[in-house]
Amino acid sequence: MASHLLNNAILITGGAGFIGSNFISYFLGKYPKTNVINLDKLTYAGDIKNTAELAKNPNYTFVEGDICDTELVSNLFHEHTISGVIHFAAESHVDNSINSPIQFIKTNIEGTFTLLEVARKFWNGNKNYRFHHISTDEVYGSLGMDGFFTEKSSYQPNSPYSASKASSDFIVRSYHHTYGMNVVTSNCSNNYGPRQHDEKLIPTIIKSAIKGLKIPIYGNGKNVRDWLFVEDHCKGIDVIYSNGVAGETYLLGGNNEFDNLTIADKICEILDKKVPNKNGSYKNQIEFVEDRLGHDFRYAIDASKIQTDLGWKALESFESGLEKTVDWYLKKYQSK
Ligand SMILES: NC(=O)c1ccc[n+]([C@@H]2O[C@H](COP(=O)([O-])OP(=O)(O)OC[C@H]3O[C@@H](n4cnc5c(N)ncnc54)[C@H](O)[C@@H]3O)[C@@H](O)[C@H]2O)c1
Repeated sequence: MASHLLNNAILITGGAGFIGSNFISYFLGKYPKTNVINLDKLTYAGDIKNTAELAKNPNYTFVEGDICDTELVSNLFHEHTISGVIHFAAESHVDNSINSPIQFIKTNIEGTFTLLEVARKFWNGNKNYRFHHISTDEVYGSLGMDGFFTEKSSYQPNSPYSASKASSDFIVRSYHHTYGMNVVTSNCSNNYGPRQHDEKLIPTIIKSAIKGLKIPIYGNGKNVRDWLFVEDHCKGIDVIYSNGVAGETYLLGGNNEFDNLTIADKICEILDKKVPNKNGSYKNQIEFVEDRLGHDFRYAIDASKIQTDLGWKALESFESGLEKTVDWYLKKYQSK
């Protein structure tokens, strides 16, 4: 096991959110002796219920707070011997960044800087201690019908969200080149699975369908995303955190390219089987709405580097992952 995993504690930020909470469950399941500190501000996007199963685990500590709070982050480094940071915390919804970018600049840029700066001071040149920055493929901008993003693609962020993540990626990179810090960055495609906030596409489709509401689809529904099941992402993060090369970037994707309308159709077909609607197919509820400003057309990932160098590849099929996801949301919405 790599030395940054051997002892001490790992600080995970944003662990009450979608991917962070799935990751902590996965990580503590695999490394039960690791101490995990979850620092999360519990914004509208965080939910303490996402980590309820961990509350009794003596190796798990939850701290409510802001990653921009230098004093709080420094105190955590004082109180615990933190030998690794896995940084998920972010404002993550593109639509919110279009309506009100300020919090994206604060959390995604200033927050990442705060964590790096505190870690740099406490780690004092110790190259065994690792900072893993979780980022997105959206930093690379938009593709046409052909081609894939690779680690060599140029940064062309188009939304305030992706621009704030791109900025944070560059700050992380600079801490490696300037101070020699042991950093890795992973840029991932769209995730789906249990615990994602209702505002995102797949939960919105499921919720609208079963509540009998219109299912809103932006523009003509032709925008394409590459979908990765969240557990596959968690496994990839573990592999990169444990074995990735300092200073490197790794792209993760599911090789599941679908346009938004196809996603809505697929979900409706699953729901038609599981919870048939007496008024006919849920597809009848699909409605095209005004497109998102500056909507990127297509994202797609070439994940050869992580496959070749670290032996990771996505294992969940889109069909089974989507069915698991629908089941999870049906349980959530039908119990309300
Ligand atoms: N969801 C995706 O499809 C996807 C894809 C690629 C990359 N990412 C990246 O993965 C990370 C996690 O995404 P997610 O979908 O789980 O997001 P999320 O919105 O579900 O969760 C974000 C979490 O961060 C917390 N948080 C926000 N601001 C904070 C602050 N200032 N201080 C402390 N905590 C704060 C929130 O309370 C929440 O628990 C993000 O960095 C995102 O950019 C997400």
